[in-house]
Amino acid sequence: MQSLLSQQARVSLAHLPTPLEPLDRLSEKLGGPRIWVKRDDTTGLASGGNKTRKLEFLLGQAQQEGADTIISFGAIQSNHARQTAAACAKLGLECHLILGRSVSWDNPQYESSGNILLDKILGAKIHYVQPNDRGNKHASLLGSLKEAGQHVYTVPTGGSNKTGALGYVQCVEELVVQCQFNKIDPEKIFLASASGGTQAGLIAGTVAHGLSWNVTGINVYEVDAIKFNNRIFKLASDTAQGDPLNAEIATEDVTVDHRHLGEGYGIPTPQTIEAIRMVASTEALVLDPVYSGKGMSGLIQQIRAKELTGVKDVIFIHTGGIPSLFVYENAF
Ligand SMILES: Cc1ncc(COP(=O)(O)O)c(C=O)c1O
Repeated sequence: MQSLLSQQARVSLAHLPTPLEPLDRLSEKLGGPRIWVKRDDTTGLASGGNKTRKLEFLLGQAQQEGADTIISFGAIQSNHARQTAAACAKLGLECHLILGRSVSWDNPQYESSGNILLDKILGAKIHYVQPNDRGNKHASLLGSLKEAGQHVYTVPTGGSNKTGALGYVQCVEELVVQCQFNKIDPEKIFLASASGGTQAGLIAGTVAHGLSWNVTGINVYEVDAIKFNNRIFKLASDTAQGDPLNAEIATEDVTVDHRHLGEGYGIPTPQTIEAIRMVASTEALVLDPVYSGKGMSGLIQQIRAKELTGVKDVIFIHTGGIPSLFVYENAF
């Protein structure tokens, strides 16, 4: 297959290709389709995750523009922020993280361990803000860094814009080769979806390559379902339109399952905890309580509700998130 991305600015950060592995003990236990896992928890960058693929394109663009300093955003336990800090360390860029107190999880470790500990060890400069102060903080930080003569590139929340989403177009190209090798044609791809760039990139990639795979995002972030669907549609359309994909997204290309959010972003449901325990104890595969565990709980519940009857193969993208598991130890 011809890659659509060969002309894009890109830096090499990820351990690729990540493995595609069957989860046969889990599939047997659930009695549904054969479940395969795409191990994007093993991309590297201080314990891996989905942002690494996005950062290859975002920081490729940053370097092309001559940036020496990166600003990005996230929650205190943001995996995106940690992977950005790691990528900057590897590339010799100064990293500023604007982190919002947007999740209230009752554990004293929440603000000192897991991802935030890694951010500090990786040398990022941390700026704590209230969630609605991010814009102001960004403007003032940008001003002072520019005044000091630094060339700043801002990576959006979750790395979710057209450039970042190309990372998941590249993932589709990787999957096509792996599916051919394994002689499977997955009807559905499942993943945890939040800022939307991962799902948008997967949708844009499948459409641009003429694949019939359905990409189902499990909403782990947004209470407003319509707003969420619109965001994914817009991001997928932006990614597909113009170079390098030149494809058109239809509203039917966007599938989101909104039934698994529970009390909200960052709060695991009982089904999330059950999914984490089940997958760990049958497959030695560790998921996280905010994203991949909740995403997997959506897939498990679809199988139990017989919504995947007749489907032969599905792929679950393990988007990472493991460092935050340890600040949720009280959920277990
Ligand atoms: C582990 C993990 N999984 C999934 C996601 C969701 O990806 P996206 O923000 O591209 O929707 C994130 C985003 O932070 C994440 O950290």
